[in-house]
Amino acid sequence: MENLVSASLLACNFAELESEVKKAENSGVDWIHYDVMDGVFVRNISFGEPVLKSISPIINLPIDAHLMITDPIRYIDNYADLGVNGVTFHYEAASDTQAVIDKIRSRGLKVGLSIKPATPVKSILPYIHEIDMVLIMTVEPGFGGQVFLPETLDKIREVRDYIDSRSLNVRVQVDGGINGETAKLVKKAGADVLVSGSYIFGADDMESAVEALRN
Ligand code: DX5
Ligand code: ZN
Repeated sequence: MENLVSASLLACNFAELESEVKKAENSGVDWIHYDVMDGVFVRNISFGEPVLKSISPIINLPIDAHLMITDPIRYIDNYADLGVNGVTFHYEAASDTQAVIDKIRSRGLKVGLSIKPATPVKSILPYIHEIDMVLIMTVEPGFGGQVFLPETLDKIREVRDYIDSRSLNVRVQVDGGINGETAKLVKKAGADVLVSGSYIFGADDMESAVEALRN
């Protein structure tokens, strides 16, 4: 499977949301990554449904909502109604993982299941046959612009081995501190969806940055 690049809007200039989205689209990113934070599951509060409602109609790429919120099942219908293509939620934030997976599926969306750096891969393996993507957080979720945690590389390898040895059709996404250098490490370890905020939106040449992430 070819590598995909997903641009995290958390790092864009919110005063220019529409042109930032267009710039990302024109620079060749594959997906738009929409980080929702509730100030409870993570300390930070980002943006939620009203902002997505405004920008969803002008986004021409698949939108992956990364829900860093407690009790995510309560919000799945709202995000589905706003036109996202996939919902990625946190294993640590849901009391009933299976119920959230079923809920996302019932809306016809792609299912992503994420774990924080301290959560072992084995906690999500019972669900891996039922999801489209695993998200291995490569920083502690909550803020953009953090430094990549190299100890997460082992988790990427572990989940990639598990997927390949069973010929599963599941993508491995990474998020946090991904730039031209760390991209090489995570791809070698087995990641095939690279989320990036600061590196993409801070680049002088966004197209080259996206290319460096992909290849
Ligand atoms: C962090 C978010 C990330 C963040 C990545 O909790 O989930 O998507 O925007 O930002 P960078 O690429 O700047 O680390
Ligand atoms: Zn994210």
